[in-house]
Amino acid sequence: MSSVRLQALRDNPESFTETHDEAAARNTSHWQDFLQQTPGLLQVALGISESARRVDDGETADDWALKHGVPLGMSIHAGPLPPHRFLCPPGSSITLNRPDAEELRFFANMLYIVPSVRGKAARGQLLEAMTLDRDLWLLDQLRGVGADPPPVARCRGTVVSGPNESELLNFYTTAGWNIVGKLTWAQSRLAEGGEEAVEIAKARGHDMGKLSIAIERVWTVPHLEWRVVKNRQLMGQWNERQRAKL
Ligand SMILES: CC(C)(COP(=O)(O)OP(=O)(O)OC[C@H]1O[C@@H](n2cnc3c(N)ncnc32)[C@H](O)[C@@H]1OP(=O)(O)O)[C@@H](O)C(=O)NCCC(=O)NCCS
Repeated sequence: MSSVRLQALRDNPESFTETHDEAAARNTSHWQDFLQQTPGLLQVALGISESARRVDDGETADDWALKHGVPLGMSIHAGPLPPHRFLCPPGSSITLNRPDAEELRFFANMLYIVPSVRGKAARGQLLEAMTLDRDLWLLDQLRGVGADPPPVARCRGTVVSGPNESELLNFYTTAGWNIVGKLTWAQSRLAEGGEEAVEIAKARGHDMGKLSIAIERVWTVPHLEWRVVKNRQLMGQWNERQRAKL
């Protein structure tokens, strides 16, 4: 995970608030703590060359993939999160006609695909495979609550303001995300790492008021899909209005 994250910060520093030097300064135990303390789904996509065909020598498939694979991408969906850690610019959330108590909240972060497999070829394979895994995992979380009807999942993420903002917003809105509004770095650090992460960033002298754009997507189990469809009808107009305000 650390190697692919460092590569992401090297290749596309403009896409992330954290810098490569900050991440590189962390030791192994920091990454282990992060994994242990972050509930949710961590995806690291591994590519395996033709020559590394699997020989059944007693290894599990996961061990084998870790040994022979080259990281091609990653993403994190942290959650379910308590309300105080959820990215929430006031007054800008999309109403779902469901009480807040009936939703699980997640935070999407660190999406990255190595440049060599980006684009249309990858879209049919790697990004879609990661997306499908993510969707199935989120629906499992909803079913796991055991409520009838199951809760919805509200997932938020951020797009860093800057030169690639417009292309990234196109990418996300095409994939079904809504633009929620702007939020400060303090808010996004809170969602990402809790109060401790906010304190660390402050101590390092970061500009805690620096703004990013919050995006949001909602998942339901299939028999509740109509609720989202209803919202999707408004989504295009909503995103246009929100973009005009950024
Ligand atoms: C975001 C990302 C995972 C999308 O994967 P991908 O394989 O490029 O996905 P797609 O082929 O569907 O590309 C989506 C579109 O968004 C654009 N895009 C994606 N990331 C972009 C970026 N950082 N800057 C500018 N444009 C970007 C692509 O050019 C593409 O546009 P096109 O359809 O007109 O060619 C990948 O581009 C990436 O890792 N980017 C760098 C890291 C990043 O920006 N992560 C998101 C942080 S919020």
